[in-house]
Amino acid sequence: MTTGKRILLIIGGGIAAFKSLDLIRRLRERGHRVTPVLTPAAEQFVTPLSASALAARKVYRDLFDLTDEAEMGHIELSRDADLLVVAPATADLMAKMANGHANDLASTLLMATDKRVLIAPSMNVRMWEHPATRRNMERLQGDGVLTVGPNEGPMACGEYGFGRMAEVPEIVDAIETALSDGPLKGRHVIVTSGPTHEPIDPVRYIANRSSGAQGTAIAQALLALGARVSFVTGPASVAPPHGVDLRQVETAREMRDAVRDVLPADAAVFAAAVADWHVVNAADRKMKKDGSGRAPALEFAENPDILAEISQLETGRPELVVGFAAETNDVVAHASDKRARKGCDWILANDVSEGTGIMGGSENEVTLISGAGAEAWPRLGKAEVAQRLAERIAAALSEPR
Ligand code: C5P
Repeated sequence: MTTGKRILLIIGGGIAAFKSLDLIRRLRERGHRVTPVLTPAAEQFVTPLSASALAARKVYRDLFDLTDEAEMGHIELSRDADLLVVAPATADLMAKMANGHANDLASTLLMATDKRVLIAPSMNVRMWEHPATRRNMERLQGDGVLTVGPNEGPMACGEYGFGRMAEVPEIVDAIETALSDGPLKGRHVIVTSGPTHEPIDPVRYIANRSSGAQGTAIAQALLALGARVSFVTGPASVAPPHGVDLRQVETAREMRDAVRDVLPADAAVFAAAVADWHVVNAADRKMKKDGSGRAPALEFAENPDILAEISQLETGRPELVVGFAAETNDVVAHASDKRARKGCDWILANDVSEGTGIMGGSENEVTLISGAGAEAWPRLGKAEVAQRLAERIAAALSEPR
């Protein structure tokens, strides 16, 4: 347990705001200092007086309150905290955060901060499932925002489903995790990502449709848990994450060398879609039609299987090696074979057959195959898959060996 930390608690305007008063008490019992910020909508649910009485501190409400600015500007307020917590995080507040609005005190504090942000979403199930909220959630997670909940259950509006704010003890736990340095602090994780390009000649290459989205999301989720991440990526269409040790490569052979170069590591996640072959007789000049009507004969050789090679290292093998298996049929059977053949610890298997929209899309539906068997995860945004995986990696690395 951490103690004596400074928490800026932004209370959004939702029915769950009443739980945030209890949250203030629980955090203070743990020795934390809580500075409440109420949005105008939140004041419809809880009063500034109750928040202030429970926090035993001034409550901040208005961006343009001149007295506040004289005492403490909004920039200072957002930095004078170890963690920003948004609870309840309404659909509107999440939309503002995802789009970088800064038009009231809460959104401006969230934009101006240099600290980590944890949100506890809370809204009606339809609002939670709305594509706009799904998009915003993806973006926020991609930006490194931490989340707790929402939970499934009955709602104040009479409907049932996902959208209930996490319970206070869960939020307190998530705050404690965010305040500690992260379960992966001091751990080094390698992530490969994106496609590889295998040259045919100086201007042509063989490639695949991998965007690098899943690998990038995994690197971000690992960073959020405090890991040092070496990110070895082929030419992806998604920008690499900030804060990683970035190794940009083109070919599978370069990717293998870069991975070996960043070893040793505690864990390695091989999310790259590595080409299986390279062209042995790649030309060093642009190939030209010779007028004979004959097509050039390309000769192929197998690329190194990076996942298998690292999994089978006699010395210096990462404690946990994770591979992906993109399959179009008999997903679990093929992926389980692959796990055994390559010697990795876990395989995240997914169905990329036509119509799933997974390859190059924003969602993924995976089955985690480990020594303990197959565990199907629901269809989730790639950032959510990444967050789950990062949490599982953190749990696995913390188990006694
Ligand atoms: O054999 P297959 O390509 O289906 O295996 C997929 C898994 O193996 C992925 O984790 C991928 O990153 C990894 N792989 C690799 N090197 C290769 C081929 C695949 O690391 N040459």
